[in-house]
Amino acid sequence: MKAVVLVGGKGSRLRPITRTVPKAMVPLRNKPYIHYMVDSMRAAGLDGSVLSMGYLPDPIQRHFAGQDLDIFSIEYVVEHSPLGTAGGIKNAEGRLGDGPFVVTNGDVLTGLDLAEVVEAHRGSGALATITLTAVEDPTAYGLVEVDHELRVKKFVEKPGIDEIHTSLINAGVYVFEREVLDMIPAGREVSVEREIFPALQGMGKLGAYVSSSYWRDIGTPRSYLAASHDVLSGAVGRAPDFEYASIDPSVRVSKGVALLPPVCVAEGCEIGAGATVGSRTSIGRNCSVGEGATVEGSILFDGSRVEEGAIVRNSIVGPGAVVGGGAIVRGVSVLGAGCVVGKGNVLGEGIRVNPGGHLPEGCVTF
Ligand code: GDD
Ligand code: MG
Repeated sequence: MKAVVLVGGKGSRLRPITRTVPKAMVPLRNKPYIHYMVDSMRAAGLDGSVLSMGYLPDPIQRHFAGQDLDIFSIEYVVEHSPLGTAGGIKNAEGRLGDGPFVVTNGDVLTGLDLAEVVEAHRGSGALATITLTAVEDPTAYGLVEVDHELRVKKFVEKPGIDEIHTSLINAGVYVFEREVLDMIPAGREVSVEREIFPALQGMGKLGAYVSSSYWRDIGTPRSYLAASHDVLSGAVGRAPDFEYASIDPSVRVSKGVALLPPVCVAEGCEIGAGATVGSRTSIGRNCSVGEGATVEGSILFDGSRVEEGAIVRNSIVGPGAVVGGGAIVRGVSVLGAGCVVGKGNVLGEGIRVNPGGHLPEGCVTF
């Protein structure tokens, strides 16, 4: 059995990171998100996956070109204009073989056992089974009401406050029978959530599987950071050789450095004297953290630099970005690729700096 992974969205809510890095490739403990998804598919015994792409496909293909996945196959279909979530599935039709297949959104991090979902689907008589999880605020998701036999009674994408009568939402992981493909018109943008699920529900053919496993959509800076903290803490995707302090042997660590677990520092980094790195922090390849600087609760992408005495807290520093000496970046701020925050700036409250942006010394202090 194969899986379609939808990785074609623009990742608008995770800008400016997703201006240059596709959402599926953002690192969690220095491994791209998509890796965790592929690992869970392999663990469930699936034969391979078809990545349904559109926006920024090349970095994902380049990543897998260098990976040995044994007998698990990775294929690609690339759409030239967005086909929507159902159109993206239809586009993979020729690669899925006979019989049922798995579909997943390419931005949900989950500890779900896919084999259990497939098992629940088989013999249920449903044409599609969707996985549900409970969240506090369903407004950003697809709200799903079920009956006592776990048949879907109602599916409302992005419900208004007044429409919420359950905490169960669509977790973005499905099993489809091939007949569902015949319900998706080809060649135009089609939403599986707004068009196909309501149609299946109307036919009484939409089943549900309720999961209590770890689950998070990584599509906003806040949730991406939270997912990073969870992976670093070993709450999800933990491999047998998991280490709470994973410091590559090539990392140069000066005197008096505090490396506070959980923490992960990739190859080629340099940490200056008296710096504090961690906890809940991941630092990508070839980064530098200057003397006396602090990086806490944050994600540094490859090649970024935090200069002496700077503080980065609960924030995301994009590839090759620079935080100048004594600057403070905090409060879920996001720096795009290659941007430079000059000395002495103070950024907070979720501020986002575009790729290549340059803030001169001391120009923002709030
Ligand atoms: N191929 C392709 N083409 N993929 C797409 C397209 C497209 O036009 N548009 C979106 N995708 C991919 C995205 O890359 C993402 O992995 C997935 O489809 C879902 O899109 P999001 O934009 O992240 O949707 P969402 O988070 O607002 O809502 C979806 O996920 C929720 C769970 O996280 C819906 O499925 C909700 O019902 C669900 O609750
Ligand atoms: Mg999403």
